[in-house]
Amino acid sequence: MAALLLLFISLSLALSASLAAAVDEAPFIGVNIGTDLSDMPHPTQVVALLKAQQIKHVRLYDADRGMLTALANSGIQVMVSVPNDQLLGIGQSNSTAANWVSKNIVAHYPSTNITAICVGSEVLTTLPNAAPILVSSLKYINSALVASNLDRQIKVSTSFASSLILDSFPPSQAFFNKSLNPVMVPLLSFLQSTGSYLMLNVYPYYDYMQSNGVIPLDYALLEPLPPNKEAVDANTLVHYSNVFDAMVDAAYFAMSDLNFTNIPVLVTETGWPSKGDPNEPDATLDNANTYNSNLIRHVLNKTGTPKHPGMAVSTYIYELYNEDTKSGPLSEKNWGLFNANGEPVYVMNLAGSGSVLANDTANQTFCTVKDGADRKMVQAALDWACGAGKVDCSALLQGQTCYEPDNVIAHAAYAFDAYYHQMGKGPGTCDFKGVATVTTTDPSHGTCVYPGSGGKQNGTMVNVTAPSMNSTASDSPGVGDHHSVIRFTMLFGLLALGLLAWL
Ligand SMILES: *[C@@H]1O[C@H](CO)[C@@H](O)[C@H](O)[C@H]1NC(C)=O
Ligand SMILES: *[C@@H]1O[C@H](CO)[C@@H](O)[C@H](O)[C@H]1NC(C)=O
Ligand SMILES: *[C@@H]1O[C@H](CO)[C@@H](O)[C@H](O)[C@H]1NC(C)=O
Ligand SMILES: *[C@@H]1O[C@H](CO)[C@@H](O)[C@H](O)[C@H]1NC(C)=O
Ligand SMILES: *[C@@H]1O[C@H](CO)[C@@H](O)[C@H](O)[C@H]1NC(C)=O
Ligand SMILES: *[C@@H]1O[C@H](CO)[C@@H](O)[C@H](O)[C@H]1NC(C)=O
Ligand SMILES: *[C@@H]1O[C@H](CO)[C@@H](O)[C@H](O)[C@H]1NC(C)=O
Ligand SMILES: *[C@@H]1O[C@H](CO)[C@@H](O)[C@H](O)[C@H]1NC(C)=O
Ligand SMILES: *[C@@H]1O[C@H](CO)[C@@H](O)[C@H](O)[C@H]1NC(C)=O
Ligand SMILES: *[C@@H]1O[C@H](CO)[C@@H](O)[C@H](O)[C@H]1NC(C)=O
Repeated sequence: MAALLLLFISLSLALSASLAAAVDEAPFIGVNIGTDLSDMPHPTQVVALLKAQQIKHVRLYDADRGMLTALANSGIQVMVSVPNDQLLGIGQSNSTAANWVSKNIVAHYPSTNITAICVGSEVLTTLPNAAPILVSSLKYINSALVASNLDRQIKVSTSFASSLILDSFPPSQAFFNKSLNPVMVPLLSFLQSTGSYLMLNVYPYYDYMQSNGVIPLDYALLEPLPPNKEAVDANTLVHYSNVFDAMVDAAYFAMSDLNFTNIPVLVTETGWPSKGDPNEPDATLDNANTYNSNLIRHVLNKTGTPKHPGMAVSTYIYELYNEDTKSGPLSEKNWGLFNANGEPVYVMNLAGSGSVLANDTANQTFCTVKDGADRKMVQAALDWACGAGKVDCSALLQGQTCYEPDNVIAHAAYAFDAYYHQMGKGPGTCDFKGVATVTTTDPSHGTCVYPGSGGKQNGTMVNVTAPSMNSTASDSPGVGDHHSVIRFTMLFGLLALGLLAWL
């Protein structure tokens, strides 16, 4: 009896401790870094971009040595991954797992701040054959961390596709595909006992696309909805104003369906494509901008979800770069926030969301040729930028947009600015042996648009709003300040209206 009581007390303590930790934690926005680019920037360029954009959390799809080295001492927290094609070896042999950890983690930690390992991506939905060894893969990797005394600093988990959750609306009725229970139950036990989190990929874009018009676009884009357009969970009477929250809550409910109530959700992927094929009409710059801008504000505002108001749901945006060599529909290549040269695909409106990705929306700076610079040195720097510097100088060719005025100074100004932005405006990237200087004046003229120019009003960039530069960590509202997203007015009168046709 005493033992039972003790067990009960320690269970409740563990439960409240874990949820309290998640409540206290400042939520963060991270970014996934896919590498299917024909001109993948060098790791040092990637890190320069991350720093300039104040991105402090990234997820890699592997444990690339070059990236982990470039990320050392950067202040950026890194989630690495065991790619699916290495899973079988690791899940079958604890020594293979130990070797993986020693080569990819121990060799880089602590100079590279690795905080999590995602062991396999969407394995249960894309690689069902590997299901039987998924749990042992996580356990072997974790044992190797324990042996290196790193298991407290580095969490081990695996990412799930949201399609694993069946009947996801209403969220209170959601459950995991029951045929996978033999894997899910020990997996969740592992996550619970190690204080790890459930990694979930949430794609309202696909939910919206597959709903054949049943899910309203605004509901998918996290746009403000009139109360009668919100979706109501008939069991809990909770109102949902966006797919993202509903899906995260569905995951909480699916876990509690298996009696796991204290595992936090971490969203490892979400986003919206900015371009698509003709049959993907909602993959647009405006929608991608709206989704990601709303998402960042929503996550950093510590709104939580209706089921767990105020509880951090940290989220990694998919993804840093457009991946031009991805196969599939055009949208597959266009989930990125940036082009390979470091130019933003669109400028988000993040006013009031803190400092993440804020640099683009702040005063724009450009790199140009210093007044009175030596012409020969300028020419040499121009040649270098368009050569070894890997700047795309095609706009300077005869007949192209920035060919006129056809002189060294004008051409160099373009190339310097392109290099500066390609390097994420990092320190020392606008110098060129002293002939370059930073300016706030947009040198774009006519159809010649300089890299980093917000003057592109062709729909590629939206109006810029100055953000708060204050750090999110110190600024995020405390739990006490939180106003529930469930507006009380809606508890009256609107319940009858609320059910969307697709429930
Ligand atoms: C692997 O497992 C075996 C038996 O289960 C154990 O003896 C051995 O110490 C383990 N090795 C590592 C590296 O954990
Ligand atoms: C990693 O980042 C976290 C959060 O900023 C910090 O608490 C921790 O000390 C860092 N670890 C290392 C090894 O730098
Ligand atoms: C549930 O999982 C099984 C095994 O992977 C799969 O065959 C089945 O199609 C899934 N069911 C649904 C409704 O997705
Ligand atoms: C969850 O707990 C309830 C009550 O203790 C029990 O009846 C049920 O079988 C459990 N479900 C699972 C999946 O373990
Ligand atoms: C934006 O980038 C510039 C150039 O790299 C840097 O000096 C500046 O501090 C950045 N702005 C913020 C808010 O970090
Ligand atoms: C901008 O849009 C106009 C018409 O809307 C078009 O003629 C022009 O070529 C576009 N410019 C660029 C740089 O795409
Ligand atoms: C941007 O918005 C401001 C204020 O809403 C407006 O005054 C300005 O004209 C807009 N600029 C552009 C280029 O649309
Ligand atoms: C932009 O720069 C100017 C001049 O440095 C400064 O006065 C202004 O406050 C800045 N605006 C923002 C939004 O940072
Ligand atoms: C940033 O924080 C400081 C101190 O908390 C505050 O005085 C200032 O108004 C804040 N600035 C913005 C733009 O929010
Ligand atoms: C952020 O939260 C505050 C209070 O919790 C709320 O008033 C505000 O509308 C929220 N902003 C956004 C963009 O969600």
